[in-house]
Amino acid sequence: MQGKDKNGRRKSKARSWEEIPEVLRDRPTTPSVDRSLLPLMASLGLISSGILIILAVLMIWRPFSFLNNGPVTSASPNTSPTPESSPTPEVDNVLGHLPYPEAPASELKPITPDGRIRLRTAAAKQFLQMQRDAKANGISLVPISGFRGINEQDNLFFGVKQQRSQDARKRAEVSAPPGYSEHHTGYAIDIGDGRNSQTHLSQRFEQTPAFKWLDKNAARYSFEMSFTPNNPQGVSYEPWHWRYVGDRDSLETFYKARSLSGK
Ligand code: DAL
Ligand code: ZN
Repeated sequence: MQGKDKNGRRKSKARSWEEIPEVLRDRPTTPSVDRSLLPLMASLGLISSGILIILAVLMIWRPFSFLNNGPVTSASPNTSPTPESSPTPEVDNVLGHLPYPEAPASELKPITPDGRIRLRTAAAKQFLQMQRDAKANGISLVPISGFRGINEQDNLFFGVKQQRSQDARKRAEVSAPPGYSEHHTGYAIDIGDGRNSQTHLSQRFEQTPAFKWLDKNAARYSFEMSFTPNNPQGVSYEPWHWRYVGDRDSLETFYKARSLSGK
């Protein structure tokens, strides 16, 4: 029998959910979601999905960004790296010149009959071969300067600086400070044209047959020009100054862990 309420309406057959003993309920007692919160929950869901997508894109993109920037430890001589794309590590240098150790005397060999000009053994051998081959082509390659010790460079740098009344920055454009000359290594040589001595240690050397021959052939003997026009070290163009890079020690001397934009 169904009862009636005080207004005479029939009481509902079904009892309210709370009235049914828990053990008799056939559905879990999860409280229903307040429908007014649904728009807020949807917005929160959208925002967190957006954040997740942005994080995922950043994680995928960053590791591959080097493809656009190039390696961070070297740069083409003609490009200046931006701080964002390739941070240039600090490299020990004085006015653009890099430090070099002095070659041991036992490793130096004379390349002139009077023995005054010396290079490291491997560089000396290759220079003499290059000189012979150039001579066979009618070209006179004369050595002007080879190995220089730190004391000699000291006199050259500070002596000439005073003599010419040049400040250190100006002097460093044409000469390395002591401890920072490629000539200390025994791998660097200043070369002149024996038939055009007026061009010795001058940029006019680049107009001589000797320079043109070197430009074409020196690489075959593992010599390269150190201070090309507009070099990243900011040293003046020195068409007469060449360095040997034909074995592991010389290559490492000039290239290992050096990143002043390829200096
Ligand atoms: N003449 C060049 C700058 C050197 O001594 O390394
Ligand atoms: Zn030189």
